[in-house]
Amino acid sequence: MKIVAINGSPRKNGNTAQCLEAVRREVAAAGVEFQVFQPGSAVHPCMACYHCLNSGSLQCVQTDDGVNEIIRACIEADGILLASPVYHGGIAGGMKCVMDRIMLTAGCGKNQFHHKVGGALCTLRRSGGMETYQQLLGLMDAMEMVLVTSDYWGAIHGADPGEVLSDTEGMEVAARLGRNMAWMVRVLGSSKDTLPPPESFPRTMTNFIR
Ligand SMILES: Cc1cc2nc3c(=O)[nH]c(=O)nc-3n(C[C@H](O)[C@H](O)[C@H](O)COP(=O)(O)O)c2cc1C
Repeated sequence: MKIVAINGSPRKNGNTAQCLEAVRREVAAAGVEFQVFQPGSAVHPCMACYHCLNSGSLQCVQTDDGVNEIIRACIEADGILLASPVYHGGIAGGMKCVMDRIMLTAGCGKNQFHHKVGGALCTLRRSGGMETYQQLLGLMDAMEMVLVTSDYWGAIHGADPGEVLSDTEGMEVAARLGRNMAWMVRVLGSSKDTLPPPESFPRTMTNFIR
């Protein structure tokens, strides 16, 4: 059993990393593997070439920034945790690039993520937490994933690296999310032979014009 996390911060060992460490401790205690990807700020945006969708390759044509490795790991994972700092009231730019490409490559068309466990967290100095949290959840919400929550919304406060550690309540939210995600991954894993998830099928895309 494995949960893959994407840290959308360009900053090494920043606040988002600290939150993911709290998650990791809980996930590891439950005997579930936890792998964090931090693609940084050098990731490219989606070029809207639609090659991934049209070919069904499950790969992006842009191969030099590590995003395909993240996509592959997400496809193989039992759970996915999206974590990003709040930038200008929303998801950090690099994270948005990764999410756009994951969604088009492996979520649209033949959805690779249906019934995987999903969770989200964001870090912020002051404002934009709810918007960002909802944006992160929105990707998984559109991919038929099993969303797992904590006991409060996943927005944890801190500006300089390490400041989130002073947000005691926020760090507890992160830890509890990790514990709940690990539990759900194990529940679904243990029942997959007796009660497998329902099959998924492509959406009928109507584009609102016909
Ligand atoms: C370009 C930029 C934009 C930011 N915008 C916001 C914002 O809109 N709201 C907010 O509360 N904090 C904002 N912040 C602060 C970060 O969200 C905060 O420092 C966060 O903890 C950084 O996480 P990290 O250490 O994992 O990179 C911004 C920081 C940067 C660098």
